[in-house]
Amino acid sequence: MASNILFRLYFFVGIFASAVWTHKLATEFMSLECVPTLSLARIYLRAGYVLDKHVRFSAVDQYGRVHEINRALAMQCGYTISTDFRGNIEFRASLISCYSQIVDDRNFTITVQIDVANTSDMKNASSCLRTLSCSYFSWRPREILCETNYMEVSVRREIPQIQDFIQDEPDDWTEVFPEAASGPASVWQVVFHLPSAKKAMLVSEAQSVGYGINTTDSRILLRAPFDASEAREMNVQGVTFSVLRSSTFYKQRWMILLVDTAVACPVDDIKFTKDTIIWSIPKNIDSLLVGASYYNDIHIVMGVNLHKLSSTDISKKNYLFSHDHQTITVQIPVGAEGGYFKSHVREGKHGITYSINVFLEHQWDDDRWGATKHTIIKEITTPFKHVPPVITNNTIPSRKLFNVSIGTFLTDTKLVSLTIGSESLAVTEANKRGYSISEIKHPNGSTSYIVTVPFDSPNVKKTYDGGIDRIYTLNIIYKFQVIPENQVFTETAIVSCPVPDAVLPDAVGYCDKEHLSLMVTRGNVDEDWLPFLSNLLLTTSRHSGYTLHDNGTHFLLQVLKHSSLVLYESLQSSDIMITLPLDMRDSSGLTMKNFSISCSYPSKDLIECLPNGTMIVTAVKLVEVPDMDPSQLALRDKNCRPTLVTEESATFIFNVNSCGTVRKFNQMAMIYENDVLYFRPGMSDPAYQLKVACWYTINETIVFPYGFESNPAPKVQPGFGPLALVMRLFKDLTYSDFYEDTEYPIVRYLRQSLYFEVELLYSEDPQLELFLDNCWSTTSSDQRSSPQWDVVINSCENTEDSHETLFHPVMNNSRLRFASHAKRFEVKMFTFIHDTKALLGEVYFHCSVVICDARDPSSDLLCARICIPDKQRFGRSAEMHYLHGHVSSGAVILMVDGKEQNARMTKSVD
Ligand SMILES: *[C@@H]1O[C@H](CO)[C@@H](O)[C@H](O)[C@H]1NC(C)=O
Ligand SMILES: *[C@@H]1O[C@H](CO)[C@@H](O)[C@H](O)[C@H]1NC(C)=O
Ligand SMILES: *[C@@H]1O[C@H](CO)[C@@H](O)[C@H](O)[C@H]1NC(C)=O
Ligand SMILES: *[C@@H]1O[C@H](CO)[C@@H](O)[C@H](O)[C@H]1NC(C)=O
Ligand SMILES: *[C@@H]1O[C@H](CO)[C@@H](O)[C@H](O)[C@H]1NC(C)=O
Ligand SMILES: *[C@@H]1O[C@H](CO)[C@@H](O)[C@H](O)[C@H]1NC(C)=O
Ligand SMILES: *[C@@H]1O[C@H](CO)[C@@H](O)[C@H](O)[C@H]1NC(C)=O
Ligand SMILES: *[C@@H]1O[C@H](CO)[C@@H](O)[C@H](O)[C@H]1NC(C)=O
Repeated sequence: MASNILFRLYFFVGIFASAVWTHKLATEFMSLECVPTLSLARIYLRAGYVLDKHVRFSAVDQYGRVHEINRALAMQCGYTISTDFRGNIEFRASLISCYSQIVDDRNFTITVQIDVANTSDMKNASSCLRTLSCSYFSWRPREILCETNYMEVSVRREIPQIQDFIQDEPDDWTEVFPEAASGPASVWQVVFHLPSAKKAMLVSEAQSVGYGINTTDSRILLRAPFDASEAREMNVQGVTFSVLRSSTFYKQRWMILLVDTAVACPVDDIKFTKDTIIWSIPKNIDSLLVGASYYNDIHIVMGVNLHKLSSTDISKKNYLFSHDHQTITVQIPVGAEGGYFKSHVREGKHGITYSINVFLEHQWDDDRWGATKHTIIKEITTPFKHVPPVITNNTIPSRKLFNVSIGTFLTDTKLVSLTIGSESLAVTEANKRGYSISEIKHPNGSTSYIVTVPFDSPNVKKTYDGGIDRIYTLNIIYKFQVIPENQVFTETAIVSCPVPDAVLPDAVGYCDKEHLSLMVTRGNVDEDWLPFLSNLLLTTSRHSGYTLHDNGTHFLLQVLKHSSLVLYESLQSSDIMITLPLDMRDSSGLTMKNFSISCSYPSKDLIECLPNGTMIVTAVKLVEVPDMDPSQLALRDKNCRPTLVTEESATFIFNVNSCGTVRKFNQMAMIYENDVLYFRPGMSDPAYQLKVACWYTINETIVFPYGFESNPAPKVQPGFGPLALVMRLFKDLTYSDFYEDTEYPIVRYLRQSLYFEVELLYSEDPQLELFLDNCWSTTSSDQRSSPQWDVVINSCENTEDSHETLFHPVMNNSRLRFASHAKRFEVKMFTFIHDTKALLGEVYFHCSVVICDARDPSSDLLCARICIPDKQRFGRSAEMHYLHGHVSSGAVILMVDGKEQNARMTKSVD
């Protein structure tokens, strides 16, 4: 009976506190009942009393001896003990069970001892004795009872006419007759009819192998388990029956009593559809009709829980009960009144069954047996049906409260604990933690549970999927217990709800001279995001290229401008763009957000122009030329390689006089230019060209745009370098000692010689030559003040009067390494006259100078040493090959001595 999952427990385990075996309790929890129509008596123990107890039933015979009823004795003697899923225990005894005291085959007294104990060893058990007295007198000549654990047949043993035996039973009896005839007298024997042979046993032998055989005043009875070794399975109209064909006989001296004790009970007669139990029993069970040539139904009834039902009751309970001439059919809708649902746990899953205790009684009349009453009791349980609980999400996002219901469950299923997020709680604790758990009772007796959890609970997971929403996810694991078995199962509800409250991290960036900085304000979705620069995970420990400070709500990243972590990009405006790209990645490495700060720095920052003409140029890898290998960079002269190479940059240190550097002049500055070049292998056009320039100016700051060629040249603002001119007064013609700044003003007598030298300071470029353009003297330090007196005019000595200016040659010496960087001239001390009055006081000397390319003095007329008439200076080519500058001397004071005063030594002014 594979489809029937009913347990048959003989000792049941359960809980019930503080029960005392009193009469009061006994009547409350126990009911005794005679069911004569089924020739049964029953005792019903309610679960409330026996739960978690060990219960033992024993039969008490007429001498007061106690016989413990175990499984084998129950089948042999006609007892059934069954426990339903709710823990109720039903004890049934056949009225003709072994220890029944039978009077006249009418009054039956069954005495049962019931022991209830807390432990399985039955120590300290409370016992009680119960006696049922039942009357039954309408015995049919043959009664067959198919109990759930045994088959029982009792046959009236009145003696009809002897000769009939042989005539009517050609099959079985003829065969048995020889055994009967030859067997010992006054001994009951039984012969089993097996398909191949007969098997005769003494009754005592049969009893020892589990058969129950006995006689009463008027009847002979045989009882056997369904799987008795002499029972056979037979198919009757598609239903399997367990059939035991047997003849029991008793030989007396003068006659043989031979009784057919065939019994047949169905074993697989129940079918289940999704919502109906279908029980079909064939009417014509051959084994029970051997020798009969016709039969008539007397009546057919069905009942539930051992009680017969009228046809009105049947239809009220929605059962269907029908029979035709072949089959009796009972149909019971799953869930119909009379049965009950029960929860179960199978493989960790929740499911239900429906159980109902049904019986069928078929009485017929045939020409061989007279009347037969065939009663079949079935405890039917539908197969386990997995019923996943329904989880309903009633969350209202605006209230920020998860509301999840789970159900429905039968009353035998209780929520015992639940795990919310990572927190496990008993139901009673949960309400204290701000959650709410309520049990909802439905009108049909089932229950649901509603759990509410606020969104802001720490056990609600918040995730971010990239949009404006945060996803709040509630993960509940419910633990349920099914009573009385105390089986547990868990169910998981995962409910998520998007709320548009995502706050992404935000950043502000700024740059200073040395650093690029990003201040990131954390949002509410980035707890597990990590900051990356390129593929480098940033940490707050010490690093060379950057610093990271994190205070929980903000972090500040500062990266050195020239760190290898930044990106360089050239800009149209001859600046260089430096970008700090910050990636925020989630724990799986996915970039969730990136920030960058880009600042443009003048590219001249990459160029340093030392006063002595050394250029220091750093070329950085640009995002536009990602394949550039800085070590392969070179200057215009390809032999000039970088002095210092990193992965991201190359630094060149070279003199303006080398590496293909070109010198140019404009009005304001002298310019040195070169290029840093990168050629891809085999290519003649550079993939990268950084134009570098140093502008040298004389004591002036010039900032103005500088034109550059278009691609591929990154634009570069030139570096600036200082040049300085100095005009010194020497003590004598040897030009070895000059007056220090602190010695001014210098005092001179009229007509005393003044030895001046004008020098270009710092430059180490030997190819430069300094020329004097004009030199003049004034009475104030302002070179533009009047009166003025010319000393050098258009690069020529002023020869206007006899006190002409004299040029002196310049030689290299230890002080002056480049003779071409200086010019010398001598003038005589004089004084200005105004309105025939000598202007006494200070005199200053000033020169305008040009600095030219000594290799090509003819490139500009100013750079030629020849004295050129004034007018020829106009119409010079627009292109300039010189740099203009001014220089002034310190003050010179005339020493006044009347005799020395000489009008010829004066320069008169208007
Ligand atoms: C069984 O246990 C319950 C409580 O555990 C107790 O009240 C009762 O007296 C016990 N009964 C017996 C028979 O020991
Ligand atoms: C047979 O029946 C008698 C009378 O009811 C009873 O005393 C006896 O125990 C029974 N024997 C068996 C083996 O069932
Ligand atoms: C059987 O029981 C009935 C009712 O209990 C009683 O009236 C009757 O006398 C009894 N019969 C015998 C034979 O004991
Ligand atoms: C039985 O009961 C006695 C007293 O009532 C107690 O001392 C003893 O421990 C009990 N034994 C068991 C096995 O419960
Ligand atoms: C739960 O209900 C909320 C509110 O109706 C809804 O926004 C959300 O998508 C639901 N979640 C699931 C997993 O059904
Ligand atoms: C973190 O630093 C930021 C910026 O300096 C400041 O506004 C914020 O208050 C700081 N937070 C904490 C928790 O110190
Ligand atoms: C120029 O000056 C720098 C720094 O003062 C010095 O290192 C370098 O050697 C000088 N170059 C020449 C060619 O003198
Ligand atoms: C230019 O010369 C003036 C006067 O001698 C001086 O004060 C100033 O610092 C110089 N400027 C530069 C850039 O050398």
